[in-house]
Amino acid sequence: MQQFWIDTDTASDDAVALVMALRSPVAQVEGISVVAGNVSLDQCVQNALYTVELCGKDTPVYVGLEKPIMRKLEDASEVHGDDGMGDIGLDLKGRTPATEHAIDVMTECIMSSPGKIRLVTLGPLSNIANALLRTPELAGAVEHCYIMGGAPHMPGNITEVAEFNIWADPEAAHIVAESSMPQTYVGWDASMASAFVTPEQIEEIRAIGTKFSDFAMDIQATILKFMQDFAKMPGFDLPDPLAVAVALDPSIAETKPYSMNVVTGDSLTRGMTVVDFMDVTKKPANVNIVTHIEPADFMKMLKELLG
Ligand code: BDR
Ligand code: CA
Repeated sequence: MQQFWIDTDTASDDAVALVMALRSPVAQVEGISVVAGNVSLDQCVQNALYTVELCGKDTPVYVGLEKPIMRKLEDASEVHGDDGMGDIGLDLKGRTPATEHAIDVMTECIMSSPGKIRLVTLGPLSNIANALLRTPELAGAVEHCYIMGGAPHMPGNITEVAEFNIWADPEAAHIVAESSMPQTYVGWDASMASAFVTPEQIEEIRAIGTKFSDFAMDIQATILKFMQDFAKMPGFDLPDPLAVAVALDPSIAETKPYSMNVVTGDSLTRGMTVVDFMDVTKKPANVNIVTHIEPADFMKMLKELLG
């Protein structure tokens, strides 16, 4: 059984990713740390607690940072809904998170089992960067970190060139990319190529007929409308579930090592993941980037874990 720690700004696709990890027979999720991102920190915490309860688990949920490390939070509620969970009327309040700070407990968990804990990040990297600044040895103690973030092979989803998780806290992403932590990026490009759910597949997933499959589709209400209205694409992609799928079974992903820089500051290219695909700089690789995943492999795993 592989031990996991999941860091999340829990909204509609994060929640599906949590269901997958919590229900996987190959994963033991030791803890969930929450970071502000898709919606406010308090709402993300409630969404994570609701999802853990739905899965019948007692996995502890810890509260992390309420904003990026050097800037204010700019959320993505227009994509995921005001409550982050599709605004379908779920009862997303009143649950109680663990009292310790997320960064303290995540650090302790990883440092007490060096080389054992697989870290998965599904939101802005504020908690992870802060933990690395406070405890640099953490980088060498993580078994591997799978990051949903970046748009290395295509345009972004929040600006022309940037993906939301990296753009929301680019300074944190820069700290993480520059650390020696072994890290693999499952970018928005990989998600659009391999985790796009069509209207036909939505019906197939609903036909599974469990509370998990219903939940996973119901909470995509806002993003479904957003994709139709703005991108003119029926359906939606599931970036965070794809990152969890790769973390659960790395053999489904082809990856390559590259040198990658994150653009910090507030220029037009804020949050861009700049990758040296042609090795023109001759800088050593600092990250692995997913280059291909068979869509059917992801869909199979998603359906199994919602069943
Ligand atoms: C990422 O940003 C959020 O909208 C999603 O939860 C995902 O983590 C995609 O860019
Ligand atoms: Ca997320």
